[in-house]
Amino acid sequence: MSTQQENNFQAIIAHAKEYGFVFPGSEIYDGLGAVYDYGPYGSELKKNIRDYWWKSMTQLHENIVGIDAAIFMHPATWKASGHVDNFNDPMIDNKDSRKRYRVDHLIEAHAAKLEEKGQPKEAEALLQEMDALLSKDDFAGLKHLIESNKIVCAVSGTCNWTDIRQFNLMFDTKLGSVTDEADTIYLRPETAQGIFVNFLNVQKTARMKIPFGIAQTGKAFRNEIVARQFIFRMREFEQMEMQFFVRPGTEGEWYKYWKQARLQWHLSLGIPAKKYRYHDHVKLAHYAKEACDIEFEFPFGFKEVEGIHSRSDFDLTRHQLYSKKKMQYFDADIDAATGKPYGNYVPYVIETSIGLDRMFLLIMAHAYEEETITKEDGSTDSRVVMHIPEKIAPIKLAILPLTKKDGLPEIARDLMDECKNYFRCFYEEKDAIGKRYRRQDAIGTPFCVTIDHQTKEDNTVTIRYRDSMQQERILLSQVKDIVINAIV
Ligand code: GAP
Repeated sequence: MSTQQENNFQAIIAHAKEYGFVFPGSEIYDGLGAVYDYGPYGSELKKNIRDYWWKSMTQLHENIVGIDAAIFMHPATWKASGHVDNFNDPMIDNKDSRKRYRVDHLIEAHAAKLEEKGQPKEAEALLQEMDALLSKDDFAGLKHLIESNKIVCAVSGTCNWTDIRQFNLMFDTKLGSVTDEADTIYLRPETAQGIFVNFLNVQKTARMKIPFGIAQTGKAFRNEIVARQFIFRMREFEQMEMQFFVRPGTEGEWYKYWKQARLQWHLSLGIPAKKYRYHDHVKLAHYAKEACDIEFEFPFGFKEVEGIHSRSDFDLTRHQLYSKKKMQYFDADIDAATGKPYGNYVPYVIETSIGLDRMFLLIMAHAYEEETITKEDGSTDSRVVMHIPEKIAPIKLAILPLTKKDGLPEIARDLMDECKNYFRCFYEEKDAIGKRYRRQDAIGTPFCVTIDHQTKEDNTVTIRYRDSMQQERILLSQVKDIVINAIV
């Protein structure tokens, strides 16, 4: 990360705290590593992102329904899914500082430094070699790559490394009142398995026909060893996942469909396409047939925000094996090739999986601007403005009576009563109007309406648009519809 990028990122983190978006978890006890709490505007923004995703998946797709499964699942779930045996990251420890690194992160950080030093070809070659070694699980080769590139520990500055070992990322705990007798269970590391184990319950009760999807949002937990970059990599986070069940043989076309559809979802928020790119996986997860990431250009470079995975029939077949319950679907449609129904089969799955917290960070990074304003007399001023897309802004409309008297608060309160059932409003009568506008800019409120003495005469108000700072006079009766049109 260049100094400018680092400063920009630190400014976003500071802004998130100062304006009630994100606080360090348990801050009065000096925080807890990679755990964060969302404040008044943050929880509102997070809920709006979740709702926007949920609506696009369920309300706008007749063949997708939602569920809300438990965080705790039977321990056999994670044996079946492969997480007990395979949900590992290769790690390496520095013998002098005793600091532990994820091998890919250590090498990626070195590649980023090479790029900064103007050696992009060397950086690219290093990453390619890393990908090739990772795909073969060649740990000796990876260690040699680290040593031959003289990659050192950021704390000790030495190249004195242990061998590479695998660490499981799942948190475990005990279920039951007496710890000794209790069973070990896991905090779910992904929400997806809650969907798979309920596949038949959902298919039967909602009478779904293939192809169909099941969507879910909820908390997931991973004991990330290298937890850093603010809310990008957390130990407790939220996922928004959808599993789409298809007829075997059609997974290729559905994978393409969802790959494209999910990028469109991001672009529908008005974020420029140049900030996104696909990254097709070389090393596939233990369940994947085909996989890609949608990457966004964060202040620290292009990084994954969402994954699209063609998971074959891996999960349902494994649950069938471990639970000894059939996970089959009867397809009554006629196969043109045989003239007979497709019959019973275990469906194939395309998964879309996005981190809600990571999407939140994406919105903050996209929205944050320190803007210099040139006034009419040529002098300059500055403001911090959050260009949060209108649809998901924490507050949609600020209602600001110019003074606390002369009947202006009463008119403002009436407008508040008219609008608050439809969208989130904010009422404020304290401080100079310019100061109030700046506070709304800082939390990303797209519309401010000022009620002044002229309002009493002709029922008009001043509406101010956050991004352009343009102001215009409109009828009081138009306010609600202007906001609704911008957010639906
Ligand atoms: N069910 C598939 C799955 O969990 P993943 O790529 O491990 O796939 C999906 O995770 C998404 O969840 C990622 O693209 C990322 O947005 C988010 N995510 C994963 N680990 C995270 C973490 N430690 N902190 C925040 N978000 C995370």
